[in-house]
Amino acid sequence: MHSNLDTPCHPGSLLSVQHLTVSEVGDILAATARMDAMPQDELARVLRGRTIALLFYESSTRTRTSFELAAKGLGATTTLVSDKSSSIEKGESLKDTGLTLRALGAEAIVLRHNLSGAPELLARMTGLPVLNAGDGMHEHPSQALLDLRTILLRLGRDATAAHERSLEGVTVVITGDIRHSRVARSNAMLLPRLGARVILCGPEELLPVEALGLGVGLGVGVEIERDFDRALAQADVAMMLRIQKERLAGLSLDLAEYIAGYQLSSERLAAHAPKALVMHPGPMIRGLEIAGEVADGPQSAIEEQVRHGLSIRRALLVRALGAAA
Ligand code: CP
Repeated sequence: MHSNLDTPCHPGSLLSVQHLTVSEVGDILAATARMDAMPQDELARVLRGRTIALLFYESSTRTRTSFELAAKGLGATTTLVSDKSSSIEKGESLKDTGLTLRALGAEAIVLRHNLSGAPELLARMTGLPVLNAGDGMHEHPSQALLDLRTILLRLGRDATAAHERSLEGVTVVITGDIRHSRVARSNAMLLPRLGARVILCGPEELLPVEALGLGVGLGVGVEIERDFDRALAQADVAMMLRIQKERLAGLSLDLAEYIAGYQLSSERLAAHAPKALVMHPGPMIRGLEIAGEVADGPQSAIEEQVRHGLSIRRALLVRALGAAA
């Protein structure tokens, strides 16, 4: 198979939530629910004999492990290639790494990369289905889908389908380092299309006004509220984000001031959002953006998010390989 940058991306790819119609989101939720109900021995036949490569240029705990466990649980063979222990360290390009994995029999590649757009390049260069496991500050589509499933289930909504009113009446407040967050971008471009009101919250350094443009091309929008207490008072869901110190480059941030203004503490939660669902994509820094007792408290859905990650990623792998399940 010869491929180049003019090659269209394989339709099994998931590069951005922007490429998914609401109906396709519903199909993914339905497949997720179906597979959650399947016995383990039946699941293990779904991708038996198939080969999936996990290609990680950035560290990951949740995304890498859940894609790997999802693939193995479906009976697929997996291989993990990390920039720390492969010929990438010797300077091998993304293209050559991808072509090598394809030559070794990989039928799909799960890619995390520090550069925005790398998954699309890999998809065009290999012709294989590529699942974006987080690219730079661009997108993290599987995270947004697992967040969607978590919200639907915790709020008692139908998590087996999606339509423009699935999240009607639900306000999601996303707070923290929006500027550097691919999770915030993907959620801001997915949840409003299902009827949610999304409020972004954070100081100017971490939340530029340009964020108001998120979703505009998809016919939806988000709001900005700088005052965390005012934002929380409207929240059905409070999604907290880590400060990405590794991407701050040149930005100065007074952490004590940030904590005073934006940490989700138990006092703040009790005062302003005593019924809101608390979410965090991880990794979280306890004592910075979120207090440990809130992360472990009854309003927290953080561990559920991780579990739904496994389920959603099963459906994405099956979709990528065009398997029946
Ligand atoms: N949420 C998320 O992407 O976590 P990891 O970086 O651990 O995969």
